Amino acid sequence: MEERENGALRKLTAALIGCGGMGATHNLALKALSEEMGVEMIAIADCRQECLEKGAEIWPGVHKYETGMELLEKETPDIVHICLPSYLHADHAVRAMKKGCHVFIEKPVCLSREEGELLLKTQKETGVKVMVGQVVRSFAEYRYLKEVYEKQTYGKLKSLVMQRLSRKAAWGFENWFMDEKKSGSVVLDLHIHDLDFLRYMIGEPDSFTVKATAFETGLINQVIVDYRFGDVFAVAEGLWDVSTTMAFEPSFRACFEEATVVYNGTKEPALVVYGKDGTVVSPKLEKDDQMRDAVSGINLSDLGPYYTEIRYFLECLRSGKEMRRAPLEEGVKSVLLGLEELEAAREYVKGR
Ligand SMILES: NC(=O)c1ccc[n+]([C@@H]2O[C@H](COP(=O)([O-])OP(=O)(O)OC[C@H]3O[C@@H](n4cnc5c(N)ncnc54)[C@H](O)[C@@H]3O)[C@@H](O)[C@H]2O)c1
Repeated sequence: MEERENGALRKLTAALIGCGGMGATHNLALKALSEEMGVEMIAIADCRQECLEKGAEIWPGVHKYETGMELLEKETPDIVHICLPSYLHADHAVRAMKKGCHVFIEKPVCLSREEGELLLKTQKETGVKVMVGQVVRSFAEYRYLKEVYEKQTYGKLKSLVMQRLSRKAAWGFENWFMDEKKSGSVVLDLHIHDLDFLRYMIGEPDSFTVKATAFETGLINQVIVDYRFGDVFAVAEGLWDVSTTMAFEPSFRACFEEATVVYNGTKEPALVVYGKDGTVVSPKLEKDDQMRDAVSGINLSDLGPYYTEIRYFLECLRSGKEMRRAPLEEGVKSVLLGLEELEAAREYVKGR
């Protein structure tokens, strides 16, 4: 991508499709990065008028569309962010890629093997860059875990227990989270964060077993997956609670030979290392989201790792460097593992 025009950073034009919960976060992150990364939002789409208007407020003159497909018909931005309900990801991403746009797609990147294959084929044909919103790869605490695992700072990893607990996901457009065909259940929607991170850090599991529960409707709402990676084991739980009030709680506990690293997103400090020698330390992590952006006035710490991942995406486009953190093929591989786990979860629930 050409860097400069008459000495100035060439503008990257962007479009945002879907301005619900996640779209609003992408929108603010792009605004916060607009000066530094030279991004300009030229079009946004949402079929809910109030979301569309709210999303457009921060971009005077932005073109507004009711549907993502209409936007893609009329506009050809450099990049498209897809923050639609998951069942709409693949169609829109394929359309955007065929127009030559680089694409950022929220997770799960798709909901079936066929969609995954189509996405990969289209990317190969078009040569565009595609990043997936597997945002845990951009969390400072999880990056720390990956680093100490790779450097063996505390010796070898022996076990890893991860949890991602949420209230019932009842907030989506037309209640799409509660329909397995649209969300892929708690497995592909929530637990995919942890299974993706496990793959990112350790690699593909040798084997796994699944236990699960379901809501009265039959939709899988809790999954506990027991993985084996050589001589390391990991357990990851994803839960959509029956209540709509339980606080969101992501956590992990990694037992190394010389220390145990504990993270809990609801606690302060969230990350603590308990050493075998009796030390208790809360590592100071480098975060690029801790200040207020002077230009946009947006509090970047509210955006957290979403800011970090989008900044990385833009940096890769600007510099031409390989997109390694969460490229399309990685997003697809995580969906494929998630689909196997979902199948096992269904079998488990059927056999109870
Ligand atoms: N990375 C994360 O941590 C994270 C967190 C939450 C959600 N997500 C993902 O982000 C995606 C969106 O989730 P959400 O929570 O924002 O859902 P949401 O229901 O709040 O928002 C989706 C938006 O899309 C709009 N929409 C639906 N069909 C449309 C169409 N054809 N054209 C234009 N707009 C349309 C809806 O009006 C809605 O505003 C999902 O894939 C979800 O899994 C990721």
